[in-house]
Amino acid sequence: MASMWRYADGIAGGDALDWPAVSLGEGGTPLVEAKVGRREVALKLEYVSPTGSFKDRGAVVLVALARLLGAERLVADSSGNAGTSIAAYAARAGMEAEIFVPASASEKKLLQVRAHGAKVTAIQGTREETALAAIERVTESGAFYASHVYNPYFLEGIKTYAFELFEELGEAPATVVLPAGNGTLVLGVHRGFRELTDAGIIGQTPRIVAVQARTCAPLASAFESGLSRAEVGPTGRTVAEGIAIAEPARSDEILAAVEDSGGSFVTVADDEIDEARGVLARQGFWVEPTGAVAYAAILRLEREGRLGEGLVSAPLCGSGLKTTV
Ligand SMILES: Cc1ncc(COP(=O)(O)O)c(C=O)c1O
Repeated sequence: MASMWRYADGIAGGDALDWPAVSLGEGGTPLVEAKVGRREVALKLEYVSPTGSFKDRGAVVLVALARLLGAERLVADSSGNAGTSIAAYAARAGMEAEIFVPASASEKKLLQVRAHGAKVTAIQGTREETALAAIERVTESGAFYASHVYNPYFLEGIKTYAFELFEELGEAPATVVLPAGNGTLVLGVHRGFRELTDAGIIGQTPRIVAVQARTCAPLASAFESGLSRAEVGPTGRTVAEGIAIAEPARSDEILAAVEDSGGSFVTVADDEIDEARGVLARQGFWVEPTGAVAYAAILRLEREGRLGEGLVSAPLCGSGLKTTV
């Protein structure tokens, strides 16, 4: 079966979840070799997921869990893609959804959320203020809080990315390069590879290189300073709206996951992201700016000879059809 549910046995609660009633065929995304300088990298095309981003892997598990618990209404907050995903899976499961987004979220993502029948509540404020508004609505309404940031079941879905990558390559890559905002991808991929390591299926967890936007890099700064959690710093604007997270709620876990993998953090500037997006497009890959962040880091690390030995892999996380820029 070319979907993430071939690993249902490995997903916590997987046997209790009525996932066929919620699934849109997520997972099973293509893995394509591409040249970066003299190196081949394995790109996993998460942007061909049902709603156009990797968030579908986590959203399907979260919505199936809400259904199991008898929820009829969902509330979520998101910079765009997670909200789109929750809205689509809520529609598939016959549930109502209200998605809180910062007013600055991409118009195309909001169009998609509304088209799935969800209510959009736009908050004039930061990503953090948007989350607080959603939590307030959950408290007053009793709806299920379908939070991709706090609910660990979201990570249970994301970890299938690691299982698939391993199965397709026939080995674990030496390095995975991942964008990091709230860190669900980093945490989910780390969880997946850690489980494979603990089960003796692979010898070593790949090195995770987590990538942040230069103007909004609380995790990278904390890692560099040897801190165990991120400090609240200034939020600069970036074209990579999906990772513009000034206060990642699980910063301690994200930092520990990267450390455990023997990995590191890299920051990339907006012009590097734009350049990477263009380089990808000229090879046929069409991603939104946040979707080019990991590739931008790979381009720089290769130029600087810092990519390390062994197989390198990265996801292209979000579709170019989602944005107008
Ligand atoms: C396309 C894309 N890539 C990467 C990320 C980063 O994911 P996370 O916030 O889980 O680190 C997001 C988050 O919205 C995204 O939309």
